[in-house]
Amino acid sequence: DRVVVVYGGTSAERDVSLKSGAAILAALKRQGVDALGYDPKEGGLAGLERLAPSAVFVALHGRGGEDGTFQGALELLGVPYTGSGVLASALGMDKQRTKQVWQAVGLPTPECIMLSENADWTAVVNQLGLPMVVKPVHEGSTLGISIVKSRDELKAAYTAAAKFDARVMAERFIVGDEYTVALLGDDVLPAIRVEVPGGFYDYEAKYIANTTQYHLPCGLSEQDEQALAALCKKAFLAVGGEGWGRIDVMRDAAGKCWLIEVNTVPGMTDHSLVPQAAAYAGIDFDQLVMRILQTAVQ
Ligand code: DAL
Ligand code: MG
Repeated sequence: DRVVVVYGGTSAERDVSLKSGAAILAALKRQGVDALGYDPKEGGLAGLERLAPSAVFVALHGRGGEDGTFQGALELLGVPYTGSGVLASALGMDKQRTKQVWQAVGLPTPECIMLSENADWTAVVNQLGLPMVVKPVHEGSTLGISIVKSRDELKAAYTAAAKFDARVMAERFIVGDEYTVALLGDDVLPAIRVEVPGGFYDYEAKYIANTTQYHLPCGLSEQDEQALAALCKKAFLAVGGEGWGRIDVMRDAAGKCWLIEVNTVPGMTDHSLVPQAAAYAGIDFDQLVMRILQTAVQ
């Protein structure tokens, strides 16, 4: 039996994936698993096939790895893999269509509008209000995202997002607190409240700065945390999520929770959220990795 941890890849989140994958690989080795790392940037799918994996641990983030294309290839090769299948992976990488599914099943997610170069910026502001969030539809780790505070900033925010993706959306900004909830098998891990001194949990705050505060316990009442957990589980199942994942949520001043997005291959770096939630639940990093691996072969 040989588990291949696939990490790196060619997406904009390559650096994050290299860190996630290295941490996962080290954990598998510590647990005595016959494990190898593989970066498809080097040898593509053919190189992976030559390694004859008995299972693949998917540690790729972003397009080409987290978006269903790679999962489809593994299906064709007949190799079991961790995490979501083709459909949920593809949906999760598309923030607009994820919202459409959530809306269709009656789950709360902030309203969004697709932008184009010649959008009617005033109409967008009138519909969503300010501030608003502008983001590439298929991107992770907050790359290309801006919070727009005035109509005049909107076009520049669009251009910044369009560098990452042909599809760009504007989303109503929910004023409130940011939470994230990890799903592991059938379990929901404790919610984390993320607090950033600058106010915006961007790439820097996620992976570089050491000033981001991760509140565990998250500070909600037991009842509110249970409601949040139930919402996130429904949201994960609505997109067909499997194995493990993470849902990001904003909670407004009235206590209503709004689904922002689902991550089907959440970060596993030393700054990442799922390992922190697991640790708080008494699951150390090695145990977490082993539990995720088990979901591959179920
Ligand atoms: N996209 C990053 C890796 C995350 O969701 O953790
Ligand atoms: Mg994401």
